[in-house]
Amino acid sequence: MEYFPAFLDLDGKPCLVVGGGEIAARKVRLLLAARADVTVVAPAVGDSIAALAAAGSLRHVGRPYVPEDLDGVWLVISATADADVDAGVYADASARRIFCNAVDRQENCSYITPAIVDRSPVLVAVSSGGSAPVLARRIRERLEASLPARLGTLAGLARRYRQRVIAALPALSPRIRFWESVIDGPASSAALSGDVKRAEAEIESLLDDAAEFAARPGIAWLTGAGPGDPELLTLKALHALQSADVIVHDRLVGDEVLALARRDAERISVGKTPGCRANSQESINELLVKLVGSGKRVCRLKGGDPFIFGRGGEEAEALTAAGLSWQVIPGITAAAGCAAAAGIPLTHRDAAQSLVLLTAHGKDSVDTLDWPSLARDRQTLAVYMGVRRFPDLMTRLIEHGRPADTPIAIVERGTTPEQRVIRGTLGQLNLLAKAHRVEAPALLLIGAVASRGVADELSIDLSQHSPSAASAGDHTYVQAGRAGLGS
Ligand SMILES: C[S@@+](CC[C@H](N)C(=O)[O-])C[C@H]1O[C@@H](n2cnc3c(N)ncnc32)[C@H](O)[C@@H]1O
Repeated sequence: MEYFPAFLDLDGKPCLVVGGGEIAARKVRLLLAARADVTVVAPAVGDSIAALAAAGSLRHVGRPYVPEDLDGVWLVISATADADVDAGVYADASARRIFCNAVDRQENCSYITPAIVDRSPVLVAVSSGGSAPVLARRIRERLEASLPARLGTLAGLARRYRQRVIAALPALSPRIRFWESVIDGPASSAALSGDVKRAEAEIESLLDDAAEFAARPGIAWLTGAGPGDPELLTLKALHALQSADVIVHDRLVGDEVLALARRDAERISVGKTPGCRANSQESINELLVKLVGSGKRVCRLKGGDPFIFGRGGEEAEALTAAGLSWQVIPGITAAAGCAAAAGIPLTHRDAAQSLVLLTAHGKDSVDTLDWPSLARDRQTLAVYMGVRRFPDLMTRLIEHGRPADTPIAIVERGTTPEQRVIRGTLGQLNLLAKAHRVEAPALLLIGAVASRGVADELSIDLSQHSPSAASAGDHTYVQAGRAGLGS
């Protein structure tokens, strides 16, 4: 973030505008709208500022700027046509630690002004950090068109009831639920249609039932965050993220997804790093039971789908055993997301009749897999958590009859900007993984479908790693970046 966003309370505070033309007048109007105490310094001023001065809305000092004009000032805007004057005002203001904006001269600004949508007291500010003002204006136009004109009425109503609601519901979580009922319910529709009396009646009736908000039990939303790309979140997942009091998330859930959560929600990372024992499943279950039992709404956010190799089932059972509520919000599982991002049709009718999702996590799970059935032709295997078990997987499948030239694709960090797709054959699996230093999270796809799809060929010569392996298949290549979903 290049700039810190803030809304300033300028009510009654001395502010200086240097310059008297139409641009200065526009800035003056904004300052006056924020009830600032405005002084304009300029040898001559245009009609707008002259009229405001005549009406007593501001003070006009009719001479060139001098540094002493900054005495006692909170904020200064320099809007002259003279670059030297603007630079001088900026230098003097900076020396006195006063925030200065020189209009259209970003190098002389210690703050920049955003494009705004004004539905006072609701204000939406949009900034492109000074790099694309026209883009910021376009965004503002879209917001302008989509935000109800009477949003301010609704916000004003909320302001009037604020203290009464705090008194009725002192705890934060139930209070947030109360306001969600106001904002998402009939009170809001009435206010936005201009019927303030009916809106007030609706709020009063909700206040009569305030105890019900305090008594509402907690819930856990076992939520799938998808494989990485935040745009692959479902609408329900987004809603859960924005409604939850607490987000309990896995290591695989990226910052871009977490950024969509309610700002004031507590965040608890319960990431399990491969090979590390921190945060056992039992302790996660206990945490969920504790949070939901205390009335919290918890978004238990997991990579992919919570019920596909996500241990969501165990968490649901623990919550049920404790008599607590839970719901599942499915997510796009890694197999679907990674295959789509690599352009691989998992069940192309010419190549596969079935799709098997399997995990090859530990030695035990490898030993207990049904290898003869996995080695059958015309099926696609999607192997989760398999990176460390690639040697076993390769050997066992070939031993049980899957040809060494069966196509494979390893999708590492699928659907993210760091995605790599490494293709080759089953007989090359180990060498490919080593040559490309494949790391978790990676998904292995095995079957004829794995040679299909989009591929920017970036060849790697496997013979450098082992001459015999190079002949196990006729081509290998790596795709870097996202494909299929539009990178
Ligand atoms: C504990 S499992 C969780 C699976 C998740 N619940 C799902 O439905 O995708 C973690 C494994 O999923 C796979 N995985 C998850 N996200 C991935 C991604 N973005 N790219 C490749 N593989 C991924 C990897 O095999 C990883 O080791």
